[in-house]
Amino acid sequence: MTTLKNDTFLKALMREPTDYTPVWMMRQAGRYLPEYRESRKTAGSFLQLCKNPDFATEVTMQPLDRYPLLDASILFSDILTVPDAMGLGLYFEEGEGPKFERTLQQEADIKKLEVPDMAKLQYVFDAVSQIRKTLDGRVPLIGFSGSPWTLATYMVEGKGGTDFLTIKKMAYARPDLLHHILETTAQTVILYLNAQIAAGAQAVMIFDSWGGALSHNAYQEFSLGYMQKIVNGLTKTAEGKKVPSIVFTKGGALWLEAQANIGADALGLDWTVSIGEARQRVGDKVALQGNMDPAILLSTPEAIEKEVATILASYGKGHGHVFNLGHGITQWTPPENAAAFLSAVREHSKQYHVA
Ligand code: CP3
Repeated sequence: MTTLKNDTFLKALMREPTDYTPVWMMRQAGRYLPEYRESRKTAGSFLQLCKNPDFATEVTMQPLDRYPLLDASILFSDILTVPDAMGLGLYFEEGEGPKFERTLQQEADIKKLEVPDMAKLQYVFDAVSQIRKTLDGRVPLIGFSGSPWTLATYMVEGKGGTDFLTIKKMAYARPDLLHHILETTAQTVILYLNAQIAAGAQAVMIFDSWGGALSHNAYQEFSLGYMQKIVNGLTKTAEGKKVPSIVFTKGGALWLEAQANIGADALGLDWTVSIGEARQRVGDKVALQGNMDPAILLSTPEAIEKEVATILASYGKGHGHVFNLGHGITQWTPPENAAAFLSAVREHSKQYHVA
Protein backbone atom coordinates (compact mmCIF):
# COMPACT_ATOMS: atom_id res chain seq x y z
CA MET A 1 0.00 0.00 0.00
CA THR A 2 1.15 3.55 -0.73
CA THR A 3 2.21 5.68 2.21
CA LEU A 4 -0.28 8.17 3.55
CA LYS A 5 0.60 11.73 2.50
CA ASN A 6 -1.75 13.43 4.96
CA ASP A 7 -2.28 11.69 8.31
CA THR A 8 -3.45 14.79 10.22
CA PHE A 9 -6.93 13.30 10.71
CA LEU A 10 -5.66 9.99 12.12
CA LYS A 11 -3.23 11.80 14.42
CA ALA A 12 -5.96 14.07 15.77
CA LEU A 13 -8.18 11.05 16.50
CA MET A 14 -5.35 9.63 18.58
CA ARG A 15 -4.76 13.03 20.24
CA GLU A 16 -1.29 13.34 18.76
CA PRO A 17 0.19 16.74 17.78
CA THR A 18 -0.72 18.22 14.37
CA ASP A 19 0.04 21.57 12.69
CA TYR A 20 -3.61 22.50 12.26
CA THR A 21 -7.08 21.11 13.03
CA PRO A 22 -8.07 18.52 10.40
CA VAL A 23 -11.52 18.76 8.86
CA TRP A 24 -14.04 16.72 6.88
CA MET A 25 -17.81 17.02 6.46
CA MET A 26 -20.39 14.38 7.24
CA ARG A 27 -22.22 13.54 3.97
CA GLN A 28 -19.50 15.39 2.06
CA ALA A 29 -20.41 13.44 -1.08
CA GLY A 30 -24.02 14.26 -1.78
CA ARG A 31 -26.76 16.26 -3.38
CA TYR A 32 -25.33 19.74 -2.71
CA LEU A 33 -22.70 18.92 -5.38
CA PRO A 34 -23.84 19.22 -9.03
CA GLU A 35 -21.32 16.51 -10.02
CA TYR A 36 -22.99 14.13 -7.52
CA ARG A 37 -26.43 14.81 -8.97
CA GLU A 38 -25.02 14.11 -12.42
CA SER A 39 -23.51 10.77 -11.31
CA ARG A 40 -26.76 9.76 -9.63
CA LYS A 41 -28.63 10.48 -12.85
CA THR A 42 -26.18 8.32 -14.82
CA ALA A 43 -26.35 5.50 -12.25
CA GLY A 44 -30.16 5.65 -12.18
CA SER A 45 -30.59 5.83 -8.40
CA PHE A 46 -28.88 6.40 -5.08
CA LEU A 47 -28.78 2.65 -4.39
CA GLN A 48 -27.07 2.00 -7.72
CA LEU A 49 -24.37 4.46 -6.66
CA CYS A 50 -23.87 2.45 -3.47
CA LYS A 51 -23.99 -0.99 -5.07
CA ASN A 52 -21.61 -0.34 -7.96
CA PRO A 53 -18.00 0.11 -6.75
CA ASP A 54 -17.08 2.24 -9.79
CA PHE A 55 -19.84 4.74 -9.00
CA ALA A 56 -19.16 4.58 -5.25
CA THR A 57 -15.52 5.41 -5.94
CA GLU A 58 -16.42 8.20 -8.35
CA VAL A 59 -18.71 10.00 -5.89
CA THR A 60 -16.40 9.43 -2.90
CA MET A 61 -13.68 11.28 -4.82
CA GLN A 62 -15.87 14.23 -5.92
CA PRO A 63 -15.59 16.34 -2.75
CA LEU A 64 -11.85 15.57 -2.52
CA ASP A 65 -11.24 16.76 -6.05
CA ARG A 66 -13.27 19.89 -5.48
CA TYR A 67 -11.89 20.70 -2.02
CA PRO A 68 -8.13 20.05 -1.58
CA LEU A 69 -8.41 21.12 2.08
CA LEU A 70 -10.38 18.01 3.14
CA ASP A 71 -8.31 15.83 5.48
CA ALA A 72 -10.36 12.64 5.22
CA SER A 73 -12.53 10.72 2.80
CA ILE A 74 -15.53 8.60 3.74
CA LEU A 75 -16.77 5.52 1.95
CA PHE A 76 -19.81 6.35 -0.16
CA SER A 77 -22.52 3.98 1.02
CA ASP A 78 -25.39 4.00 3.50
CA ILE A 79 -25.94 2.60 6.99
CA LEU A 80 -29.02 0.79 5.67
CA THR A 81 -27.04 -1.66 3.51
CA VAL A 82 -26.81 -3.80 6.68
CA PRO A 83 -30.55 -4.35 7.29
CA ASP A 84 -30.87 -4.81 3.52
CA ALA A 85 -28.34 -7.69 3.73
CA MET A 86 -30.34 -9.04 6.69
CA GLY A 87 -33.25 -9.54 4.28
CA LEU A 88 -35.49 -6.54 4.95
CA GLY A 89 -35.61 -5.17 1.40
CA LEU A 90 -34.34 -1.57 1.34
CA TYR A 91 -35.85 0.85 -1.17
CA PHE A 92 -36.06 4.60 -1.65
CA GLU A 93 -39.10 6.49 -2.79
CA GLU A 94 -38.25 9.74 -4.54
CA GLY A 95 -38.18 12.54 -1.99
CA GLU A 96 -39.34 10.29 0.88
CA GLY A 97 -36.22 8.77 2.35
CA PRO A 98 -35.44 5.11 2.98
CA LYS A 99 -38.05 2.39 3.54
CA PHE A 100 -38.13 -1.38 4.05
CA GLU A 101 -40.43 -3.91 2.38
CA ARG A 102 -40.51 -6.04 5.54
CA THR A 103 -40.41 -4.97 9.18
CA LEU A 104 -39.46 -6.75 12.39
CA GLN A 105 -42.56 -6.51 14.56
CA GLN A 106 -43.86 -10.09 14.87
CA GLU A 107 -42.10 -12.38 17.34
CA ALA A 108 -41.74 -15.14 14.71
CA ASP A 109 -39.98 -12.78 12.26
CA ILE A 110 -37.69 -11.41 14.96
CA LYS A 111 -36.63 -14.88 16.07
CA LYS A 112 -35.69 -15.77 12.49
CA LEU A 113 -33.26 -12.82 12.25
CA GLU A 114 -29.69 -13.99 11.69
CA VAL A 115 -26.23 -12.58 11.07
CA PRO A 116 -26.09 -12.45 7.25
CA ASP A 117 -23.34 -13.85 5.07
CA MET A 118 -20.87 -10.98 4.51
CA ALA A 119 -20.76 -12.01 0.82
CA LYS A 120 -24.04 -10.05 0.49
CA LEU A 121 -22.08 -6.91 1.33
CA GLN A 122 -19.09 -7.70 -0.90
CA TYR A 123 -19.95 -4.66 -3.05
CA VAL A 124 -19.16 -2.45 -0.05
CA PHE A 125 -15.78 -4.10 0.57
CA ASP A 126 -14.99 -3.89 -3.15
CA ALA A 127 -15.79 -0.17 -3.05
CA VAL A 128 -13.45 0.26 -0.05
CA SER A 129 -10.52 -1.40 -1.87
CA GLN A 130 -11.16 0.54 -5.05
CA ILE A 131 -11.41 3.88 -3.22
CA ARG A 132 -8.15 3.17 -1.38
CA LYS A 133 -6.42 2.52 -4.72
CA THR A 134 -7.84 5.68 -6.24
CA LEU A 135 -6.95 7.79 -3.21
CA ASP A 136 -3.33 6.72 -3.62
CA GLY A 137 -2.48 7.89 -0.11
CA ARG A 138 -3.96 11.41 -0.42
CA VAL A 139 -5.98 11.25 2.80
CA PRO A 140 -7.24 8.40 4.99
CA LEU A 141 -10.47 6.54 4.22
CA ILE A 142 -13.18 6.25 6.87
CA GLY A 143 -15.39 3.15 6.94
CA PHE A 144 -18.71 3.28 8.80
CA SER A 145 -21.80 1.56 10.08
CA GLY A 146 -25.01 2.48 11.85
CA SER A 147 -25.32 1.62 15.55
CA PRO A 148 -27.51 -1.39 16.37
CA TRP A 149 -30.16 0.88 17.94
CA THR A 150 -30.28 3.21 14.93
CA LEU A 151 -30.43 0.30 12.47
CA ALA A 152 -33.13 -1.35 14.60
CA THR A 153 -35.31 1.78 14.45
CA TYR A 154 -35.48 1.35 10.64
CA MET A 155 -35.92 -2.44 10.86
CA VAL A 156 -38.79 -2.25 13.35
CA GLU A 157 -40.53 0.91 12.09
CA GLY A 158 -39.93 0.13 8.39
CA LYS A 159 -38.94 3.76 7.76
CA GLY A 160 -37.23 6.73 9.37
CA GLY A 161 -39.17 7.77 12.44
CA THR A 162 -39.80 10.81 14.52
CA ASP A 163 -41.54 9.36 17.57
CA PHE A 164 -40.25 5.75 17.36
CA LEU A 165 -43.35 4.48 19.15
CA THR A 166 -43.32 0.94 17.70
CA ILE A 167 -39.75 0.20 18.72
CA LYS A 168 -40.10 1.99 22.06
CA LYS A 169 -43.19 -0.04 22.85
CA MET A 170 -41.12 -3.15 22.13
CA ALA A 171 -38.30 -1.87 24.36
CA TYR A 172 -40.70 -1.52 27.28
CA ALA A 173 -43.08 -4.45 26.66
CA ARG A 174 -40.77 -7.07 25.13
CA PRO A 175 -37.15 -6.08 25.84
CA ASP A 176 -36.12 -9.70 25.12
CA LEU A 177 -37.21 -9.32 21.48
CA LEU A 178 -35.46 -6.00 21.01
CA HIS A 179 -32.30 -7.37 22.63
CA HIS A 180 -32.34 -10.23 20.14
CA ILE A 181 -32.48 -7.75 17.25
CA LEU A 182 -29.75 -5.58 18.78
CA GLU A 183 -27.46 -8.50 19.61
CA THR A 184 -27.77 -10.00 16.11
CA THR A 185 -27.17 -6.57 14.58
CA ALA A 186 -24.15 -5.88 16.82
CA GLN A 187 -22.54 -9.18 15.77
CA THR A 188 -23.25 -8.27 12.14
CA VAL A 189 -21.75 -4.79 12.51
CA ILE A 190 -18.55 -6.22 14.04
CA LEU A 191 -18.07 -8.49 11.00
CA TYR A 192 -19.05 -5.67 8.63
CA LEU A 193 -16.63 -3.08 10.05
CA ASN A 194 -13.79 -5.59 10.35
CA ALA A 195 -14.31 -6.56 6.69
CA GLN A 196 -14.14 -2.84 5.77
CA ILE A 197 -10.90 -2.56 7.75
CA ALA A 198 -9.51 -5.67 6.01
CA ALA A 199 -10.41 -4.07 2.66
CA GLY A 200 -8.57 -0.84 3.54
CA ALA A 201 -10.63 1.41 5.85
CA GLN A 202 -8.16 3.36 8.03
CA ALA A 203 -10.65 4.60 10.67
CA VAL A 204 -14.24 3.62 11.44
CA MET A 205 -17.23 5.60 12.59
CA ILE A 206 -20.44 4.33 14.19
CA PHE A 207 -23.47 6.54 13.47
CA ASP A 208 -26.04 6.44 16.27
CA SER A 209 -28.31 8.96 14.61
CA TRP A 210 -31.36 8.15 16.74
CA GLY A 211 -29.75 7.36 20.12
CA GLY A 212 -30.83 10.80 21.33
CA ALA A 213 -34.48 9.71 21.17
CA LEU A 214 -33.97 7.33 24.11
CA SER A 215 -34.47 7.96 27.82
CA HIS A 216 -31.42 8.07 30.08
CA ASN A 217 -31.54 4.42 31.17
CA ALA A 218 -32.78 3.13 27.82
CA TYR A 219 -29.81 4.76 26.05
CA GLN A 220 -27.39 2.75 28.18
CA GLU A 221 -29.32 -0.48 27.78
CA PHE A 222 -30.39 -0.35 24.13
CA SER A 223 -27.74 1.77 22.44
CA LEU A 224 -24.48 2.46 24.27
CA GLY A 225 -23.99 -1.09 25.55
CA TYR A 226 -24.13 -2.48 22.02
CA MET A 227 -21.74 0.16 20.68
CA GLN A 228 -19.33 -0.84 23.44
CA LYS A 229 -19.59 -4.47 22.29
CA ILE A 230 -18.79 -3.41 18.75
CA VAL A 231 -15.82 -1.26 19.76
CA ASN A 232 -14.47 -4.20 21.78
CA GLY A 233 -14.81 -6.49 18.77
CA LEU A 234 -13.07 -4.21 16.26
CA THR A 235 -9.74 -4.99 14.63
CA LYS A 236 -7.36 -2.60 16.37
CA THR A 237 -4.48 -2.41 13.87
CA ALA A 238 -4.13 -2.87 10.11
CA GLU A 239 -1.15 -2.33 7.81
CA GLY A 240 0.92 -1.84 10.98
CA LYS A 241 -1.17 1.17 12.08
CA LYS A 242 -3.84 1.72 14.68
CA VAL A 243 -7.37 1.94 13.25
CA PRO A 244 -9.13 4.58 15.39
CA SER A 245 -12.87 4.47 16.05
CA ILE A 246 -15.39 7.31 16.38
CA VAL A 247 -18.78 6.97 18.08
CA PHE A 248 -21.44 9.58 17.32
CA THR A 249 -24.79 9.71 19.08
CA LYS A 250 -26.81 12.55 17.62
CA GLY A 251 -28.65 14.24 20.48
CA GLY A 252 -26.42 12.37 22.91
CA ALA A 253 -24.35 15.13 24.47
CA LEU A 254 -25.97 14.54 27.88
CA TRP A 255 -24.14 11.21 28.03
CA LEU A 256 -20.63 12.16 26.92
CA GLU A 257 -18.98 10.89 30.11
CA ALA A 258 -20.51 7.45 29.60
CA GLN A 259 -19.62 7.45 25.90
CA ALA A 260 -16.00 8.30 26.74
CA ASN A 261 -15.73 5.06 28.71
CA ILE A 262 -16.58 2.51 26.02
CA GLY A 263 -13.12 2.31 24.46
CA ALA A 264 -13.66 4.43 21.33
CA ASP A 265 -10.86 6.83 20.36
CA ALA A 266 -13.15 9.75 19.53
CA LEU A 267 -16.69 11.01 20.07
CA GLY A 268 -18.81 12.89 17.55
CA LEU A 269 -20.65 15.98 18.78
CA ASP A 270 -23.76 17.54 17.32
CA TRP A 271 -24.26 21.32 17.66
CA THR A 272 -26.21 21.32 20.92
CA VAL A 273 -23.12 21.32 23.13
CA SER A 274 -20.21 23.70 23.69
CA ILE A 275 -17.13 21.82 22.47
CA GLY A 276 -15.02 23.47 25.16
CA GLU A 277 -17.32 22.13 27.89
CA ALA A 278 -17.43 18.74 26.18
CA ARG A 279 -13.62 18.68 26.23
CA GLN A 280 -13.58 19.36 29.97
CA ARG A 281 -16.13 16.63 30.59
CA VAL A 282 -14.29 13.89 28.70
CA GLY A 283 -10.79 14.94 29.75
CA ASP A 284 -8.03 13.13 27.92
CA LYS A 285 -9.98 9.92 27.34
CA VAL A 286 -11.09 10.67 23.78
CA ALA A 287 -10.69 13.07 20.89
CA LEU A 288 -13.73 15.12 19.80
CA GLN A 289 -15.20 15.52 16.32
CA GLY A 290 -17.65 18.27 15.46
CA ASN A 291 -19.59 20.38 16.02
CA MET A 292 -20.80 23.21 13.76
CA ASP A 293 -24.50 23.45 12.90
CA PRO A 294 -24.72 22.49 9.19
CA ALA A 295 -27.37 25.20 8.74
CA ILE A 296 -24.63 27.83 9.10
CA LEU A 297 -23.36 26.74 5.69
CA LEU A 298 -26.57 28.21 4.25
CA SER A 299 -25.55 31.71 5.41
CA THR A 300 -22.56 33.79 4.28
CA PRO A 301 -18.78 33.22 4.17
CA GLU A 302 -18.42 35.89 6.90
CA ALA A 303 -20.89 34.19 9.26
CA ILE A 304 -19.27 30.82 8.57
CA GLU A 305 -15.79 32.14 9.34
CA LYS A 306 -17.00 33.71 12.58
CA GLU A 307 -18.61 30.47 13.75
CA VAL A 308 -15.52 28.42 12.84
CA ALA A 309 -13.37 30.83 14.88
CA THR A 310 -15.77 30.58 17.84
CA ILE A 311 -15.70 26.77 17.85
CA LEU A 312 -11.90 26.65 17.56
CA ALA A 313 -11.57 29.13 20.44
CA SER A 314 -14.01 27.11 22.52
CA TYR A 315 -11.94 23.93 22.02
CA GLY A 316 -8.81 25.95 22.74
CA LYS A 317 -5.14 25.09 22.38
CA GLY A 318 -3.89 21.57 21.97
CA HIS A 319 -4.69 18.43 20.09
CA GLY A 320 -7.53 15.97 19.73
CA HIS A 321 -10.04 18.01 17.73
CA VAL A 322 -11.33 16.96 14.31
CA PHE A 323 -13.42 19.79 12.89
CA ASN A 324 -16.70 18.68 11.34
CA LEU A 325 -20.34 19.61 11.13
CA GLY A 326 -22.69 18.46 13.88
CA HIS A 327 -24.62 16.39 11.31
CA GLY A 328 -24.67 15.87 7.55
CA ILE A 329 -24.25 18.79 5.18
CA THR A 330 -27.66 19.73 3.77
CA GLN A 331 -28.52 19.46 0.10
CA TRP A 332 -29.23 23.21 0.01
CA THR A 333 -25.62 24.18 0.82
CA PRO A 334 -23.96 26.38 -1.82
CA PRO A 335 -20.73 24.52 -2.71
CA GLU A 336 -18.72 27.76 -2.38
CA ASN A 337 -19.83 28.06 1.27
CA ALA A 338 -18.36 24.62 1.96
CA ALA A 339 -15.09 25.91 0.47
CA ALA A 340 -15.24 28.98 2.73
CA PHE A 341 -15.80 26.70 5.72
CA LEU A 342 -12.77 24.52 4.95
CA SER A 343 -10.47 27.53 4.38
CA ALA A 344 -11.63 29.12 7.64
CA VAL A 345 -10.81 25.97 9.59
CA ARG A 346 -7.34 25.73 8.07
CA GLU A 347 -6.52 29.42 8.53
CA HIS A 348 -7.90 29.95 12.01
CA SER A 349 -6.74 26.64 13.49
CA LYS A 350 -2.98 26.98 13.05
CA GLN A 351 -2.67 29.34 16.03
CA TYR A 352 -4.03 26.66 18.37
CA HIS A 353 -1.32 24.17 17.41
CA VAL A 354 1.85 26.18 18.09
CA ALA A 355 3.97 24.66 20.84
O1 CP3 B 1 -20.81 11.04 4.60
C1 CP3 B 1 -20.71 10.63 3.42
O2 CP3 B 1 -20.44 11.38 2.45
C2 CP3 B 1 -20.88 9.13 3.15
C3 CP3 B 1 -22.15 8.70 2.75
C4 CP3 B 1 -23.30 8.47 3.72
C5 CP3 B 1 -24.63 8.44 3.26
N1 CP3 B 1 -25.44 8.05 4.28
C6 CP3 B 1 -25.05 8.74 1.89
C7 CP3 B 1 -26.45 9.10 1.62
C8 CP3 B 1 -23.33 8.16 5.09
C9 CP3 B 1 -22.19 8.11 6.09
C10 CP3 B 1 -24.69 7.89 5.42
C11 CP3 B 1 -25.14 7.47 6.75
C12 CP3 B 1 -26.57 7.44 7.06
N2 CP3 B 1 -27.60 7.04 6.26
C13 CP3 B 1 -27.12 7.76 8.32
C14 CP3 B 1 -26.32 8.16 9.52
C15 CP3 B 1 -25.90 9.57 9.46
C16 CP3 B 1 -27.02 10.54 9.63
O3 CP3 B 1 -27.28 11.29 8.66
O4 CP3 B 1 -27.62 10.57 10.72
C17 CP3 B 1 -28.51 7.58 8.25
C18 CP3 B 1 -29.52 7.82 9.35
C19 CP3 B 1 -28.81 7.11 6.94
C20 CP3 B 1 -30.13 6.72 6.39
C21 CP3 B 1 -30.51 7.56 5.26
N3 CP3 B 1 -29.94 7.48 4.01
C22 CP3 B 1 -31.51 8.54 5.22
C23 CP3 B 1 -32.36 8.96 6.41
C24 CP3 B 1 -31.53 9.06 3.93
C25 CP3 B 1 -32.53 10.04 3.38
C26 CP3 B 1 -32.31 11.39 3.89
C27 CP3 B 1 -31.51 12.17 2.90
O5 CP3 B 1 -30.61 12.91 3.32
O6 CP3 B 1 -31.83 12.03 1.72
C28 CP3 B 1 -30.51 8.43 3.18
C29 CP3 B 1 -30.11 8.69 1.79
C30 CP3 B 1 -28.69 9.09 1.55
N4 CP3 B 1 -27.58 8.52 2.13
C31 CP3 B 1 -28.25 10.08 0.62
C32 CP3 B 1 -26.85 10.07 0.66
C33 CP3 B 1 -25.91 10.89 -0.20
C34 CP3 B 1 -29.14 10.90 -0.28
C35 CP3 B 1 -29.59 10.02 -1.38
C36 CP3 B 1 -29.88 10.75 -2.64
O7 CP3 B 1 -28.94 10.93 -3.45
O8 CP3 B 1 -31.03 11.11 -2.84
